[in-house]
Amino acid sequence: MCCQVLRQPYWWIAIHVLFLPTAVTLLTLQLPSWLYLLTVLLLALVFWGTVKGDVPLFLSSTAVATAVADIVDREKATAFADLGAGVGSVAVPLAQHRRLIVDAWEYAPLPWLITAWRCRKLPNATVKRVSLWDCNLGCYEVVFAFLSPLVMVKLGEKIIAEMPSGSLFISSSFPIPNWEPESIVAIKDRRKTILFCYRIRF
Ligand SMILES: C[S@@+](CC[C@H](N)C(=O)[O-])C[C@H]1O[C@@H](n2cnc3c(N)ncnc32)[C@H](O)[C@@H]1O
Repeated sequence: MCCQVLRQPYWWIAIHVLFLPTAVTLLTLQLPSWLYLLTVLLLALVFWGTVKGDVPLFLSSTAVATAVADIVDREKATAFADLGAGVGSVAVPLAQHRRLIVDAWEYAPLPWLITAWRCRKLPNATVKRVSLWDCNLGCYEVVFAFLSPLVMVKLGEKIIAEMPSGSLFISSSFPIPNWEPESIVAIKDRRKTILFCYRIRF
């Protein structure tokens, strides 16, 4: 009810309830003010566009990276794109173990820096601090994304406009509305991740 009035998701109730007690507790601790500034700066560097509604950082598990690597092997792919690479949980293991061109897009500064650092000795990997909406997917046999239900329709439009016929799009956790996946892979990780695999056909 309260969330309907405020037009907010239900989990905001927890934030409203915890806000005041947390503020009072932190005040009594009398922490130096620069610590708050540092925390805000760090959060901004990690969650960059989240305040304006963009996708936040969640990390894929090792099991997801292994499953994606198996799919890439099966597809005999030579070029792979990771849209919103985070700290490289999928892109880095793929680039490490395979003779595969790996291009990763990540625009939040700190995750981008971590992925770029992890890829520094991998000549087959490129990590771009550019919005994924500005990339072109025309040369990839497999594209991976773990984003948000809010962007799946727009992402579907981009994929159908740019990915070549016969290529494969893998979406972690979130299906593209009204698209029929070629296969669905259930991962046995803590989050029980589902990979939705879409074959691009014209
Ligand atoms: C849910 S996380 C997934 C991270 C990583 N792919 C993984 O599986 O561990 C989504 C990532 O997409 C990034 N992101 C969101 N919108 C983006 C955009 N427009 N361009 C590039 N990266 C974006 C976020 O900063 C975040 O790191």
